[in-house]
Amino acid sequence: MKILGIETSCDETAVAVVEGSGGLEAPLFEVRSSVVSSQIKEHVSFGGVVPNIAKREHARNLVPVLEKALRGAGLYNESGIFNLESGVTQDSRFQILDSMLAREPDLIPPLKTLLQSIAPPEIDAIAVTRGPGLEPALWVGVNFARALACAWEKPLYAVNHMEGHILAALLHEKTQNTEHKTPKVEFPILSLLVSGGHTELDVASAWGKYEVLGETRDDAVGEAFDKVARLLGLPYPGGPAISALAEMTADKRGLDAEQRGKNPSFVSLPRPMINSGDLDFSFSGLKTAVRYRLEKEEQVTDEFRATMALEFERAAVEVLLAKTCMAMLETGAKTFILGGGVAANTRLRREVTRVFADEFPEAVCILPDRALTTDNAAMIAAAGYIRSLVDSPADPLASLEAVGKLRLGGVGDVQ
Ligand code: KG4
Ligand code: ZN
Repeated sequence: MKILGIETSCDETAVAVVEGSGGLEAPLFEVRSSVVSSQIKEHVSFGGVVPNIAKREHARNLVPVLEKALRGAGLYNESGIFNLESGVTQDSRFQILDSMLAREPDLIPPLKTLLQSIAPPEIDAIAVTRGPGLEPALWVGVNFARALACAWEKPLYAVNHMEGHILAALLHEKTQNTEHKTPKVEFPILSLLVSGGHTELDVASAWGKYEVLGETRDDAVGEAFDKVARLLGLPYPGGPAISALAEMTADKRGLDAEQRGKNPSFVSLPRPMINSGDLDFSFSGLKTAVRYRLEKEEQVTDEFRATMALEFERAAVEVLLAKTCMAMLETGAKTFILGGGVAANTRLRREVTRVFADEFPEAVCILPDRALTTDNAAMIAAAGYIRSLVDSPADPLASLEAVGKLRLGGVGDVQ
């Protein structure tokens, strides 16, 4: 089954084509194309993502990104005329499209041009992120997907972005050798999803059936990375910048820096909620601790910044690992999946690998390809495949709402 995925929940405009097979028992995915257009440049001067700028950029980028994804998958057929099986005329189809995209008027002319110049692509379904994310940004993708589903007469599936991050573990950057590289998973699956918007531990009893076990009570861990980077004068997004500085510090000074990071008289940060006894997180206090410590320092040297970056990263990773171990014991999970943008973090990946080898050697531990940890549409198409096996399609003519605070398995989720 060929699925076109669309993702606009934050600051990446992404479209992908993924071939899904194997059913719920053994889903297998082949990425035919995956195009991501990042808006980081537009948001950098604000030090974070601005929802209305994200919305504007998605409306600007969606059609060219779609075109590229279709070309990449060999599904861009210019010879086509806008002929539909149902015989509905182009004029009436375009009228519907005008009303669906009334809130995204910039999208209408390029979309109409595209629809008039290519044949409806040979895809079996369209999947779109419904939430969680920034609502103005989500709406653009949802309305775009509704318009496409209507124009091409394809079934439409609404996807929870977090289910996408879990399924990213089954995708691979390279499309060759997918078969033998796809890890065999056994349920229950525990997932730690760590991104700029989320920090949560979820358990899946089967594909499509999820429960949130714990989550952050305030800032997401990626958000903490971004805010701490800002305090340290590092560029946005802060995760990669802190990670690079921390790795360099640990590398250059070896164990010394590690020891110094441990020394309370030098820099010592709290490990928030590490002993709270539940599976929730809190990262805003950690960020505040960095701010207070910086304010106390008379002269903030590069060395101090580097040590701070290392200690911050150590504190965040230690808390994530401690809660993950607790959740493994509580759920008896047989598979562990790491997902979300912060899953690109070198220390986190190294520590997860070490802890699982030492403490849960029987469990399958999956770290997704780095390129697939951040937001992309291949993971949304993969989640769309699962949705097509457990849900009925959404009606594109009825209003499909974007839900900024959508929760896996919660009220309003698509299951
Ligand atoms: O999943 P994602 O692309 O978008 C959201 O859904 O939020 O995650 C982006 C987040 C940002 O906060 C970014 O700073 C963080 O992931 N990030 C990292 C690293 N690479 C990206 N955090 C720590 N270390 C990294 N190497
Ligand atoms: Zn994400």
